[in-house]
Amino acid sequence: MKHIIAIYPGTFDPPTNGHLDLIQRGSNIFDELIVALLRNPDKEELLFSLSERRRMLEDLTRPYDNVRVDMFGGLLVDYASKVGARAVLRGIRAISDYEYELQMALMNRKLDPRLETVFMMPAETYSYVSSRLVKEIVQLGGSVHGLIPELVEERLEKKINGSRRARAAATRKV
Ligand code: PNS
Repeated sequence: MKHIIAIYPGTFDPPTNGHLDLIQRGSNIFDELIVALLRNPDKEELLFSLSERRRMLEDLTRPYDNVRVDMFGGLLVDYASKVGARAVLRGIRAISDYEYELQMALMNRKLDPRLETVFMMPAETYSYVSSRLVKEIVQLGGSVHGLIPELVEERLEKKINGSRRARAAATRKV
């Protein structure tokens, strides 16, 4: 019997309802799904530390028996081969995601032809949700209620308001 392991890689800073929707869909079709956090992304400033993001993902994926969270560094194809994964799961929200995702999928296929990329669409309710926008909105005092899991909302508000309070306290001391 085939046992298909898939990886859902990403930065997840922070995880959104779109990510969670994809995890749920992935867990329905793969025997095992590994949510794989990239250790050292160089593309953007991260708000949450690796261990904070890992903890959030672990809390969110607890209801799914066939989903686990892991971290990886280096090439995705090397990590996939190490854990015996046959597929990479990625979400496509809109046409704008497609070019980047296509390029990555084809490059990964060039690096390891055995690894398939499987694209899934998150529920249309989340098609405009991204971690970057969520962070920006909360930082500017807006509400993202319903777009991110409640536990992420709590931790996001604590983090942003916490650092605001710390900055205000530091300014008062000067
Ligand atoms: O959620 P993100 O930030 O869009 O995820 C990007 C990710 C982690 C999937 C991508 O950056 C990645 O796979 N990085 C690992 C390094 C690698 O294999 N690079 C070549 C990709 S073709």
